[in-house]
Amino acid sequence: MTDIHCIGICTGGGDAPGLNAVIRAAVKAAILKYKWKVIGIPDGFDGIIWPERSRELTLKDVSGILPRGGTILGTTNRGDPFHYKTVENGQEVVRDISDEVIANSKKLGIEAIISIGGDGSMKIAQDLFLKGVKIVGVPKTIDNDLSATEVTFGFDTALNTATDAIDKIHTTAEAHHRVMVVEVMGRDAGWIALEAGIAGGAHIILIPEIPFNLRKICEHLELRERYGKRFTIVLVAEGVKLPEEMKHLSRTMAVANMIGDAIALVARKDVRVSVLGHIQRGGSPSPYDRILATRLGVGAVDLIAEGGFGKMVCLQQECIRAVTIADAVGKMKTVDPNGEIVRAARAIGISFGN
Ligand code: F6P
Repeated sequence: MTDIHCIGICTGGGDAPGLNAVIRAAVKAAILKYKWKVIGIPDGFDGIIWPERSRELTLKDVSGILPRGGTILGTTNRGDPFHYKTVENGQEVVRDISDEVIANSKKLGIEAIISIGGDGSMKIAQDLFLKGVKIVGVPKTIDNDLSATEVTFGFDTALNTATDAIDKIHTTAEAHHRVMVVEVMGRDAGWIALEAGIAGGAHIILIPEIPFNLRKICEHLELRERYGKRFTIVLVAEGVKLPEEMKHLSRTMAVANMIGDAIALVARKDVRVSVLGHIQRGGSPSPYDRILATRLGVGAVDLIAEGGFGKMVCLQQECIRAVTIADAVGKMKTVDPNGEIVRAARAIGISFGN
């Protein structure tokens, strides 16, 4: 057991439904189980750059936040203390201010830190750990693309949001005999597109892991027409790779708009496009995400108590376990193009545009 009396907690990178559930669980476990003091660090590691912004989190502060989206601590996609960008004399300068951050956290009385974040935040956590900071990680991303954990919280909620949207698009698509192109998040991996596509009954799913071409999409539209289906739902992951015939186009608009325009041109169909965007990151976390987030929050506090610094909690075989952050960073979990779930989708007639 470590001799800890005060921990800090921060959320970094893009938000995900369930962040508040992690914060609540960690604060409750730290106070009730271990009698520690908890400091909330606002806006990722930025909050330690300006330590006066940090404040103690009590049980009262986390009361009622379980169903809330976002994060009560705030977050940022920037704020890497090892590559901190400032403007000096009108010029952008990148500085390493990690020593300042470490000194500030000591001044705040923080003896160990829980960093809740994605791959970028885990990389920063690992670098701080190498400089002697007692830090543990909690993985987060709606994209569900971290290999060290079976599921990330936020994914289930995003999946529900996307599926609900597809259900709504279905009826208008059918009524107007249109091709509806729906874009969901997934910068590097197509998990949301694949699973929401199956759950929402999409007819074509385009993901970064499976190269597609326009001819195959048009063939699928024609096939559906031969069956008497005059509408089609095309689900697109934002990170999809454009086919050769579209490579000359610059990505100045959402990729779904580019694909929608191309389908309208080539297949001469009435096409409409919906980009779901950050709707998928917001809203109240699903029960599954609340439970997973709670277990991970408690797991992170237990990890500190055990002295498991430099580690990240994760879900493996339905249990909360820990892996070293060094082993977890940079390792993505992408969709296997020949995996069971893709094969199941193909078996029910879903096209991947290839
Ligand atoms: O959390 C990952 C993600 O959802 C990606 O799919 C998406 O590209 C990104 O966040 C967008 O984040 P932001 O708009 O905050 O930069």
